[in-house]
Parts: sequence; structure tokens; C-alpha cells
Amino acid sequence: RLVAFAAIQGGYKVVAEVEGELEKALQSYDASTKIGFPNTAYYLPVIYSLTGIKCETLEDLKKPMEFARGLLPPHIKGKNHLPYLGPLLDAGMAGIFAYEVKEALRILEEPDFYIPTEDPDIEAGKMWVGPADDTILRKRGVEFVDGSAPGFAAVVGAAPDAETAKLIVEDYQKKSLYIFCAAHHNGKTIIEQCLEAGMQVGWNTRIVPFGPDISSAVFALGFANRAAMAFGGVEPGDYRRMLMYNKNRIFAFVNALGDVGTEWAVAAAGCVNWGFPTLADTDIPEILPTGICTYEHVVANVPHDEICQKSVEVRGLKINITEIDIPLAFGPAFEGERVRGGDLFGQMGGGKTQCTELVKMAEMNDIEDGKVEVIGPDIGDMKEGDVLPLGILVQIAGREFQEDFEPIMERQIHHLINYIQGIMHIGQRDISWVRISKAAVEKGFTLKDIGVVLHAKFHQDFQKIVDKVQVTLYTKQEDVDKITAQAREEYKTRDARVDTMTDEDVDTFYSCSLCQSFAPSHVCTVSPERTGLCGAYNWMDCKAAFEINPTGPNQPIQKGKVLDPKLGRFEGVDEFIKVASKGAIETYNFYSMVHAPMTTCGCCECIAAMLPACNGIMTVGRDYTGDTPCGMKFTTLAGVMGGGAASPGFVGHSKFNITQKKFILGDGGLLRLVWMPKIVKDEIRERLNARGLKWALRTSLT
Ligand code: SF4
Ligand code: NI
Ligand code: NI
Repeated sequence: RLVAFAAIQGGYKVVAEVEGELEKALQSYDASTKIGFPNTAYYLPVIYSLTGIKCETLEDLKKPMEFARGLLPPHIKGKNHLPYLGPLLDAGMAGIFAYEVKEALRILEEPDFYIPTEDPDIEAGKMWVGPADDTILRKRGVEFVDGSAPGFAAVVGAAPDAETAKLIVEDYQKKSLYIFCAAHHNGKTIIEQCLEAGMQVGWNTRIVPFGPDISSAVFALGFANRAAMAFGGVEPGDYRRMLMYNKNRIFAFVNALGDVGTEWAVAAAGCVNWGFPTLADTDIPEILPTGICTYEHVVANVPHDEICQKSVEVRGLKINITEIDIPLAFGPAFEGERVRGGDLFGQMGGGKTQCTELVKMAEMNDIEDGKVEVIGPDIGDMKEGDVLPLGILVQIAGREFQEDFEPIMERQIHHLINYIQGIMHIGQRDISWVRISKAAVEKGFTLKDIGVVLHAKFHQDFQKIVDKVQVTLYTKQEDVDKITAQAREEYKTRDARVDTMTDEDVDTFYSCSLCQSFAPSHVCTVSPERTGLCGAYNWMDCKAAFEINPTGPNQPIQKGKVLDPKLGRFEGVDEFIKVASKGAIETYNFYSMVHAPMTTCGCCECIAAMLPACNGIMTVGRDYTGDTPCGMKFTTLAGVMGGGAASPGFVGHSKFNITQKKFILGDGGLLRLVWMPKIVKDEIRERLNARGLKWALRTSLT
């Protein structure tokens, strides 16, 4: 029972230490000095959620410290003291409170120590992200609630070496768990080891560098508790429900890598309150007598290659990962990794070559399920730095399959290719871009693996409508040209399918929240006359997507009362977006960029901007890299707008939308448009001329 004792002793030690730090801070700063974690409405979240205490100033920190002191068991007699559950848990909780206060003091004294970002700037030496701000919480927390992240592993300490660290962390990534990292061991942190092993860290790859000290482990608990408040409706101060919610809903556990001293032991004991067990790689006796609770709280001496599996088992997590037969790891944890310049082996598309993807319905007897063919040169024929053209043709047959479903399936290609470790995919349709890393090639990646992934996942995710999937990857120029021409015809037909419909014709619009994973407050509403700004989703697509998957990202919206026919404002839409954006957006207009425009996310095809000097409007497409009359390039505009912002004077839209009748109608329509790059104009030339003629006729009549 040595560790049990250590945990109680640790409680005393940590509380006393932080009391001292607080005392010192109160001597150097005014008691009314503001303290807190950055950009959060949840104060110091563990303290707030469990006690209801709102810490806003240095003075306020005294209260939770008094509370912590009061939790410490009144007496410890000698080494042989055998604790029962209560005092141990209380000591753990006291330690956790003290750790949160300690972190608040650190942020006061070193405001730049943590940079709360999804994507830490390692080169600039900014490794530690600290507590997640509320934007990150909304975006990531919801994954714990909807199950796309089954849980998290709080890893404290460091592995014996970088290779072992990589082994452990990658095991968790493959299971789609988040890895929350804190503390160091033998002068190393597991984050440094991951970097040494060539891994990318940050929220994007689910390897979250909280901080270098054990106290930063408290950010993991704060994250869990905020998720419970934000998504689970648990009231601050309702500690019973808070802890039960975590125990039942948040599948988390601790891995202690290194010697468990008093400071780690107190954190481990604290975590037991949440129902989070600790698994250690060293020889420690159990913290708690077994048999008291329904599962083990502490497991010692777990070998590194078993720690992931064992942790998941002990916490009672059921994770189904489908084995896909490719030489690389696969899953959402790899979606956010980038293939940067130095890591790049070769690429397809991205302005260097043509890269096109097309999903086409096929007759049951015309295709062979599971057949994947690469026609033309493959990775083995490339040298580092080479480019290839690429055409991806996916043919699907199914008794329930409809042509209307093609675009929805096609849009999946983006994230499914991104799920492959070391492979990056950008764009869609005929502007796709695939970047392949050296690491992927070393592990034996070939283009065929793309087909294997698409076949497996289309079956798995769309059982209801898919019976057969055949994938062909073309890499010879003439084939790619041919498939691109065919695809463009298909896109045109698809776009035309809704072309004759008007917003007045229908009572139902559709939402699209696919991009919320990147832009949390962004909600597209797609109507017949306003296609999704990515250009990949029109009203018909959304309708079909809803039919395939009634609980998916495309939901019907009853248009309701028309509040403003000219600007395009609808009662039902406003109600919907208020909820879907979690209160971030109250209202928006379909046909205006000046008055409350729709939100914009990073995958828009074009961005329109006001030009005050001539009172006109310009728009620029993604593939135009030059300067524009508004003084900003596309990338700059996208950087400003792309996070789900609604900025009057700017709006994201699809290329197709330019030639839809209601395009910025509330601001004067197409006649206000004074500039667009030639590539965009050429692409939409036919339709633009036709639309222009209609305008001309209408004007001449008035
Ligand atoms: Fe959906 Fe809009 Fe994103 Fe397109 S841009 S995928 S319509 S949310
Ligand atoms: Ni990837
Ligand atoms: Ni987007």
C-alpha cells in the first residue's frame, strides 16, 4: 500500500506547495489581478464544475485552496497506515484543485508559456498548448459526445525512448483516441519523443501537448468536465453528476510512464474520482485495495506494447476498428496531418497536374466488387519530387443505389484518403490534390491502396445502398484527360439537375454541417438557388444525403415564413442556424454579402469582396493565385474568412452560384460584379453569358 500512502502524502505536499505559491503571488500582485485560462467561459474548469466557485482574480484562488486543504484527511499515522477509499480520493481531489490553481498562477506569471492553438508552432519553440480554449473545446469535445473520438489517454511522463513513444501513441491514434500529454520523466517529455520519431503533434493529429509538468495533466480533467457542462448539460457545482457523467460517458484513463512519485500518485488518485484508472509501466503496488470497485484502478508493470490494449480493456472501452489491408495506419486521427515540403515524396494535382475524381453508378453485372486497378505508372515508377496526373473512377452498383447519390459518395473521397497516414488530400471534383509523404512510400504505399480504402469504407459506411464497388486509378495523361472530360460532363449534368428549380418552389432547404469539424460555427444552408459554397453540394445532393443517412450532416430545414424575400431571410433557417452554430450565429441572408451574409468556411470555391472605391463587387476563385483589386489574394481572404466567420462585405460561394439567378441579388445581383479572374470567367463562360443576356433583357424592359 506504499502508493496509497504516497498519494495522501502527495496531497499534503502539493496543497502546501501551491498555498505557498499563491501567498507569494499575493505579495507581488494586487489581489484584484485578473487570472484565468484563455478564452473560456468556464473559469478554472475543474474547480468551477465541481464546486461552482468562479475564480476570476488572484484573491478568488484562496477559496479553492481552502477547499482543498479541507479535503485532506486529518491525520496520517506512520507508514503502515492503510487507507480506505474515502481519504485517498479526497487527497487526490485536493491535489487536483491545487494543480489547477498552480497552472492559473503559471499563466499569470508567464502569459506566453502556453499557446492555445490546434497546431503548435514547433519550429518557433512553442510546443505547449495548455488548456483548450472554448473554440477548440466545442470542435473537439463534440467528438467525445457523438462517439467519433471514443475517449482519451492521459499520458504522463515519457517512454524509455522515441521508438517506444511512437509505438504507444500510434496505437492510440489507430484507435481514434486522443492522447493528452503532460509531465516529463528523466528530463524528457513524450511530446519531444514523438517529434524525435518524426510524428506531428497537435489537436489535428490527436496528440495534444498540454504541458511539461504533472500539474498540466489537470487540463485533461478540465477538458472532460467542460465537455460535460457544454454537451452533457451538467450544472456547475453538481459534483456528483459531474463525476458520474465522466465515469459513464468519458472513456479516459491515465498511462504513467516513469517512476510514480508522490506528485504523480496524487494525480492518479484524483483521477479515480472521475473513474479514470491508471496503468503504469513501472512496478507500483495498487493504489487502492481491489474489490472495492467494479474495475481495477491501478495496474502496474504493463509492457509498452500492451499498454494501449490493456488500458482500453481496463476502462471497458469497446472499439471497432476495421482492418483495411494497406501498409499504413488508417483513421480519423491521421486526417489532420500535413505533408509538408520536406516530407513530400510526390503529388498529383494541386495545379501541377490534373487530378480528377468521379463516382459513377454502374450496372450490377458490369463491375466486379473489390477490383482495384492502377492503369499507368504507380509510386514505384516515380522519383522523389515527381508529379503524376491522376483520375480516380469509382463505380458503384447497388439495388438501392441512385444517380443522385453519386456526388455524396464522391465527397467522401476527401476525408477517406486523408485518413491514410502520411497521405494528404485537398479539394474535390476536378481540382483534387493528393500529396504523398516519403514515410508513406517507405512503408510501401502504392496508388492501389487508395482504391482498397475506398472499396472497404464505401461498403462499411454505406451498407444500405452499396453492393459492389470497383475502383480504377488512371495515371496516363490521355486517360486522365478522358476521365476529366467525362467527369466535367457529369458535374454539369448534376448542377443542371437543380438549375431549373427556384427557392420559391420548395418548402425545405437542407443544412450541411460537414465542415463544422474545421469551422465549428459554420453552417451551410443549401437551397436550390444557393449551392454549397464548396461547389460540391447542391440542394439535390443534400436531399439525397439525407435519404441515405437520416441522422447525418445534411438535415432538412423547413423554410418557414419568408422574412425578407430580397435579402433571402427565412424564419425556419434562422431558428435552425441558431441551434446548429451553438448560438454563434443568429441570422443570415442567402442573397446578400453586405447585410448579414452566410458564414464561410475554408473550402469555398470563391470569395466575393466589396470594392468601396467603385462600389462594385469582385470575386476570386481558389485556383487564382495572383493579386486582386481588393488588395488581398485568395489565400489571405480565405485565412480571414475560412474559420466559419460571417463578415459583412465578404462572402464565400461556389463558382456555379455566380450564375444562379439569386447570386447577391439583395446587393444588386450580377450587375454589381466588376471583376473576376479569367480562369473563373472562362470556366463559367457559357452560363455567364446566358445569365447576362437575361439581365440585359430584363433591364431593357424596365
Ligand atoms: Fe457542406 Fe458547406 Fe462544407 Fe460544402 S462547404 S461540405 S456544403 S458545409
Ligand atoms: Ni493523412
Ligand atoms: Ni469547408
